[in-house]
Amino acid sequence: MTAKKSTGPDGDEAARVARARDALLAWYAQSARALPWRAEGTTAWATWVSEVMLQQTRVETVRPYFARFMERFPTPRHLAEAGEPEVLAQWAGLGYYRRARFLHAGAKAVCERFGGEVPRGVEALRGLPGVGDYTAGAVASIAFGERAPLVDGNVERVLTRLFAVGGDPRSGPVKKHLWALAAAFADHPDAGAVNQSLMELGATVCAPTSPRCLTCPVRSQCLAARAGEPERYPEKAAKKAPRDESWTALVGLHGGSAWLVPSATGRWEGMLVPVLVEGAVDAAALAGAHGGRAVTGHGEVLHVLTHARMRIAVYSAALDAPAARGALVPLDAPAGHGLPKVTLRVLAAVRSSGGAGPTQRR
Ligand code: ADE
Repeated sequence: MTAKKSTGPDGDEAARVARARDALLAWYAQSARALPWRAEGTTAWATWVSEVMLQQTRVETVRPYFARFMERFPTPRHLAEAGEPEVLAQWAGLGYYRRARFLHAGAKAVCERFGGEVPRGVEALRGLPGVGDYTAGAVASIAFGERAPLVDGNVERVLTRLFAVGGDPRSGPVKKHLWALAAAFADHPDAGAVNQSLMELGATVCAPTSPRCLTCPVRSQCLAARAGEPERYPEKAAKKAPRDESWTALVGLHGGSAWLVPSATGRWEGMLVPVLVEGAVDAAALAGAHGGRAVTGHGEVLHVLTHARMRIAVYSAALDAPAARGALVPLDAPAGHGLPKVTLRVLAAVRSSGGAGPTQRR
């Protein structure tokens, strides 16, 4: 007898993969949600855009962004030829702005290397900026029908439950096992539907908590459900608590407008933000450094990100001569200017306590 491979499915697992896949495909043909990026005639570019937007973001949130983005940038070339401020403005509110920057860089690379056509193979896709194993597998399988696997959070949950895969799914050996299972699933003429059926099951039935096992098409084969403990999987490593951070924000006021600056930090790089400094700094000194006077305090706002809880002390200061480096945005109507949520929150604090009177003066 040969030794059991540590990662790839063994004979028993391979047979179970094939059975589960048949059940999933039949279910998917009946139950797939009608989503704009699944419409007849969808392009590989639309698949790529949708898959990037769907990372860490819910379908219902993505819908209007996807429609607007595809209308404005119907091909990689349209995006490649746009300026970064416009790309970021189209993405504003979706969060994780690195995705927009990478998509922009990816579209430029497609124009430079592939004449503006999205390449079909996993290897070529993987060589594009911002395209990792997941996105390459999604585009190759969904848009081109290649037998390419993918594992995202939904697939990870479905597979760890179906096969009762213990251990931290992000750790090397478990990750390898899950990708090998996903590759066995995707080894099928309609790999795109197979992959989407796994993701769809995770998104609509095999929920993180209270999974709807009674309506699950692979319930009879699910080892975790059989053991009566589907929620035990995936066995997540202890989550790091978000860091508590203290920040100071200064909004320059000029007429009825707020003076904002392009952010130089990774979180909102290139997007318009107030002057944002980490730490509880002296607001009068900060205002002075930017030519501001009559500093007013507007209390604190809390801005929660995945890895950080930002407690931001908000100040405004009168600016007689706003520096050209920034932009003036109407304080009372900041929507529609492509501002990130943190900026909108800070401006709301300035508006809501506009009459609070100065707490620090210079
Ligand atoms: N989540 C991300 N991409 C998806 C897709 N193509 N189908 C279902 N769920 C998804």
